Amino acid sequence: MVNSNILLGVTGSIAAFKAAEIARRLIDEGFSVQVVMTKAACNFITPLTLESITGKPALTDLFSGPYSHISLSKESRLLLIAPATANTINKLSCGIADDLLSNLWLTKAGPTLIAPAMNHRMYHHPSVQKSIKELQKSGVKFIGPVSGSLACGEEGEGRMSDVATIVEAAISALTQKDLKGQNILVTAGPTIESIDPVRFISNRSSGKMGYAIAKAALRRGAKVTLISGPTSQMPPENVSFVSVEKASEMETAVLRHLPKATAVIMAAAVADFTPAAIDKLKLSKKDISVINLKKTSDILKKVGAEKGKRVVIGFAAETGKNIENAKAKLKEKNLDLIVLNDITQKGAGFNVDTNIVTIIDRKGKITDYPLMKKIEVANVILDTLTGLKT
Ligand code: PMT
Repeated sequence: MVNSNILLGVTGSIAAFKAAEIARRLIDEGFSVQVVMTKAACNFITPLTLESITGKPALTDLFSGPYSHISLSKESRLLLIAPATANTINKLSCGIADDLLSNLWLTKAGPTLIAPAMNHRMYHHPSVQKSIKELQKSGVKFIGPVSGSLACGEEGEGRMSDVATIVEAAISALTQKDLKGQNILVTAGPTIESIDPVRFISNRSSGKMGYAIAKAALRRGAKVTLISGPTSQMPPENVSFVSVEKASEMETAVLRHLPKATAVIMAAAVADFTPAAIDKLKLSKKDISVINLKKTSDILKKVGAEKGKRVVIGFAAETGKNIENAKAKLKEKNLDLIVLNDITQKGAGFNVDTNIVTIIDRKGKITDYPLMKKIEVANVILDTLTGLKT
């Protein structure tokens, strides 16, 4: 990532403790975070806490270094202020520069995101509302606040947005919207095929790969429909989410959403077979000697048959004869690309945060990628997709 520095401004609110989690998540996503605190923020969270997370001094003093109010701004791509108090918002709107954070706002080089946190009466005070409007006019984006119970015990609009929402907004603000106008259909997770009311056949898919693709595509400006089997993953915000259980339900959902899709990426581990009949009552031990199975329909093959102009991408989970099998699937299912993962490799495939993939295209071009986080793999797949389009 080229210049992945984020300036995280922290001001004096009870929500300041959440800045630690914001910093940690941004670092996990590959960003470098420089914290700048107001004096009031130091009453709620210590600089040491934030320094321990970012590995850099949390700056509190305008005079911490010569021209730091300019150089820090030049070195960063985003100014994120979370939490932002009424005092800071009002100060920024009229350009008062009496501490390091407000100076940085005046010299800032990239976009600014502000996550307000305050009592609901303060938030609705005309001075604060006027300042927010002024800042919005100059291009500042606000995340929240949301309604709920406030630290003071009152209820109302003033709670800082969720950490996940703030982090996602920051990453999205720094991501080029090269998939704007695309409508991407992603499948994820396993399917579960019932044997009786208690038991089922399934597989080890966690949904992490498919959810990462959905998240990356949203960040890059696409509209995303995510059709998912049962997983413990949280659907990303702004995704159009469809929850399914068995393969036949996934098939119905995929075919229903297909007409609008400009691209389909099937990362789901769809069951290849399902019990021929589902017992309505729980089978007793002595009844289970054989379970008769029937094949499920191949959803991706059906999508490939109705491909039209859309890009269709499949996955191949292999344990041997990898390239040969993946190429056969690409051809048989009429795909543009197949993403091969050898699930016997450490750090690849099911239920891990990383993957090792090989992408094969229709012309037989084979590109190997090293071990990467699934979100990085997702971006590589989307890069290849945009490459096909141009
Ligand atoms: O979910 P995670 O824990 O993150 O794990 C990720 C993953 C290993 C599930 C993922 O990277 C992956 O490999 N997904 C595809 C798994 C699979 O079913 O592979 P396959 O080789 O059996 O199927 C080939 C393709 O056909 C896949 O795109 C699959 O979605 C599709 N398929 C398969 C069977 C079927 N009945 N209908 C289908 O559409």
